[in-house]
Amino acid sequence: MRWLTTSLLTLVTLASCTNFPWEEVQLAEDEVYPDIAFGKTYGARYSGPRCRVAPDDPQWPSEESWDKFNKTLGGVLLKPVPPGAVCYPGEHYDADKCKFLLSQAGGTRFYSDHPLTVLTDWATGNTCQVSASPVGNCTQGGLPVYVVNATTVRHIQLAVNFARNRHLRLVIRNAGHDFNGRSTGYGALSIYTHHLKDFEYIPEYIVGPYKGRVARVGAGIETWELTNYMDQYNMTVEVPGGETVGAFGGWIAGGGHNLLSSVYGHGADQVLAFQAVTADGRYHSVTPEKNADLFYAMLGGGGGTYGVLTSAIIKVYPPTPVTKLHLEFRVGAPDAPFNTNSTAAFWDGVWLYQFLSPSICDAGATHYSYIRRQSPTSYSFEVDFQLPLLTPTQITSLLTPLYTGLDALGILVNLTIPPAVSPNPARPRKTGTGAAPSNLYFASRLFPRANWSNRTLYNATFAAIRATVEEGGFVFHGVNFWTPAAAVGYPGSKNSLAGREDWRGAIMHADIMDRDFAGVVGAMGNEGVEERFWKRHGQLKKVMDGVRAVTGEGGGAYFNEADVLEPGWQGTFFGGAGETYQRLLRVKRERDPWGLFWAVMTPGSERWRVEEGRGLPTQNGRLCLTEKE
Ligand SMILES: Cc1cc2nc3c(=O)[nH]c(=O)nc-3n(C[C@H](O)[C@H](O)[C@H](O)COP(=O)(O)OP(=O)(O)OC[C@H]3O[C@@H](n4cnc5c(N)ncnc54)[C@H](O)[C@@H]3O)c2cc1C
Ligand SMILES: *[C@@H]1O[C@H](CO)[C@@H](O)[C@H](O)[C@H]1NC(C)=O
Ligand SMILES: *[C@@H]1O[C@H](CO)[C@@H](O)[C@H](O)[C@H]1NC(C)=O
Ligand SMILES: *[C@@H]1O[C@H](CO)[C@@H](O)[C@H](O)[C@H]1NC(C)=O
Ligand SMILES: *[C@@H]1O[C@H](CO)[C@@H](O)[C@H](O)[C@H]1NC(C)=O
Ligand SMILES: *[C@@H]1O[C@H](CO)[C@@H](O)[C@H](O)[C@H]1NC(C)=O
Ligand SMILES: *[C@@H]1O[C@H](CO)[C@@H](O)[C@H](O)[C@H]1NC(C)=O
Ligand SMILES: *[C@@H]1O[C@H](CO)[C@@H](O)[C@H](O)[C@H]1NC(C)=O
Ligand SMILES: *[C@@H]1O[C@H](CO)[C@@H](O)[C@H](O)[C@H]1NC(C)=O
Ligand SMILES: *[C@@H]1O[C@H](CO)[C@@H](O)[C@H](O)[C@H]1NC(C)=O
Repeated sequence: MRWLTTSLLTLVTLASCTNFPWEEVQLAEDEVYPDIAFGKTYGARYSGPRCRVAPDDPQWPSEESWDKFNKTLGGVLLKPVPPGAVCYPGEHYDADKCKFLLSQAGGTRFYSDHPLTVLTDWATGNTCQVSASPVGNCTQGGLPVYVVNATTVRHIQLAVNFARNRHLRLVIRNAGHDFNGRSTGYGALSIYTHHLKDFEYIPEYIVGPYKGRVARVGAGIETWELTNYMDQYNMTVEVPGGETVGAFGGWIAGGGHNLLSSVYGHGADQVLAFQAVTADGRYHSVTPEKNADLFYAMLGGGGGTYGVLTSAIIKVYPPTPVTKLHLEFRVGAPDAPFNTNSTAAFWDGVWLYQFLSPSICDAGATHYSYIRRQSPTSYSFEVDFQLPLLTPTQITSLLTPLYTGLDALGILVNLTIPPAVSPNPARPRKTGTGAAPSNLYFASRLFPRANWSNRTLYNATFAAIRATVEEGGFVFHGVNFWTPAAAVGYPGSKNSLAGREDWRGAIMHADIMDRDFAGVVGAMGNEGVEERFWKRHGQLKKVMDGVRAVTGEGGGAYFNEADVLEPGWQGTFFGGAGETYQRLLRVKRERDPWGLFWAVMTPGSERWRVEEGRGLPTQNGRLCLTEKE
């Protein structure tokens, strides 16, 4: 009897087209009016003006149109004011609220729960920065005008249809963590997926050859929430590193590295099936077999490009203990721990760590390291080893070559192995605070393991790494992992990371980060910002050219953590000379012939560009066709 109920339930689960009750709430054919009518992809093309309709245009929907749209939406249309407005003279000025933003908001959920905020300020044009001494007036800048606070599939279908029919710029905004402004845009209508928070643990589920535990997840869940669920259900799932990052928006769409990457694959590899609304307004169930083109493109092909994911079915693992081990050493900082007085020894130590890193990853470890230059004579190195499923004995033999090597260089370190913990300890209960906008800017690279194959090659690679810090003054943040196709298995073999040697053959993804960029852009409206920007970017480009030269054709870069001016991004983000980019482009053209979903440096985005005025790579400008249609 129990068996029967389970099988029936499984049948129901598989037969149903959708995961959650709010996904059953859909737009019906017979309730549409022209503004919200469904589209037909076959033979369709964009037929609006050269630039997407913006607020001052005569074609901008009238107040009556917006009101009618809002009524159709059941009132979930928002017209938010940028949070920083409270710091500027004018109707929104509020000294106390401004003080809260300046001193406390980052430690609360304020920014995470604000429907407009994105965490990368410069990408919005910095037109309403939170500041104690604001310059000029606060304007909406690169932030959207209207936001659909979606809680049903119907809301999403309505937003997609309205934007397509009225030729508006459309963005999808989940947790707003994208580093290049992909979830924001001047004059845009935004689909806000943040409140799609449902979660369900399912002990047994079947998709293709996969049979086992899964979870159903709403698109808006963040890392911290999953961490608490892991605790509650005695299980492990993969999550992004930052507590407030959206786990099922940009992260799975771009690739998604995490501390279990070397044992279970990346974020994109966790998704067995999902639900999505495409540019025609239609709602689909997607698996490796059904709507396989969307499965391929939406997992690895970049967020905000092919459709709006509403929920997913993801792999669940038994609770996976991880030993977390921290190592650091410095030079030129006499009071710091593990000090060495020798710059040569410092770099030899870092050399040794990187040199041994593939062997450590082979055992299932993922590690996060930072090399920083405090001054021309002072440097620090630190690494956090994440060592899943390994015993203390195994860890000792794995790390002894590194520790004895450092000892021999005069860098005194002790190998002390702490007890294993769950990968993302939930206790004390996580609350998801800590997100605040910043002006971080960086470039990145996926380093081929082949560059570690002999010392000549490796030394050239290491010299390029060293130059980013020593000459460029940038922070080098390495994430070392090893996720060959064979280890990843199904359904990672069906998404668009499959067949990509840059990801599957990478031993490290590294961010080359600019600590000084905040000072470079300040308020983007300030005098001389263009000159400062291009000078600083030139310095970044110079060291990056060195990295690109050694990593060669086999290298690539992680779309989600990248330079918005990455040269040849199509090849670099989407599989070099392989067929991946062409395939992604085909899916884009077939599923979205209107180019409705637009985000910078995504497949098909070449047809459009943001006319920024100053030529800076922000989203504060009209989105216009680059070619005559
Ligand atoms: C503090 C911090 C820590 C991070 N840690 C990691 C990490 O450990 N590993 C890692 O790989 N990356 C990490 N990242 C990068 C992160 O993966 C990307 O910034 C990612 O885009 C964030 O997704 P989001 O949904 O939170 O952000 P958003 O900015 O809301 O969305 C990102 C992109 O996805 C699109 N999108 C959002 N939701 C949907 C949807 N439902 N359907 C279709 N498209 C959608 C958006 O349009 C946008 O293009 C981190 C970023 C930050 C700021
Ligand atoms: C949409 O309607 C709701 C409910 O009537 C209202 O509270 C909200 O302000 C409206 N939104 C806009 C942008 O007018
Ligand atoms: C700011 O707005 C006020 C009132 O609209 C206007 O008088 C002033 O010129 C504006 N300042 C700038 C720097 O644009
Ligand atoms: C968006 O919708 C959610 C869920 O209904 C609600 O809790 C939240 O307050 C809404 N946000 C805004 C800014 O109205
Ligand atoms: C959690 O799961 C593990 C392995 O699946 C099992 O050994 C352990 O007893 C479980 N713990 C609890 C508290 O249920
Ligand atoms: C570094 O140099 C100082 C002063 O010369 C010396 O006292 C100290 O022991 C040295 N430290 C190391 C780690 O060599
Ligand atoms: C290493 O351990 C020894 C013995 O416990 C201790 O004296 C020493 O300070 C430690 N060194 C470092 C660098 O932690
Ligand atoms: C190192 O590898 C490169 C590329 O495979 C090769 O050209 C070179 O000869 C090798 N060098 C040595 C010393 O083996
Ligand atoms: C590579 O660099 C290391 C460390 O600086 C050095 O010992 C070694 O001789 C170099 N090897 C080659 C082949 O250049
Ligand atoms: C590093 O490896 C990649 C991939 O095999 C290759 O294209 C590149 O030329 C290598 N770098 C060097 C300096 O040989």
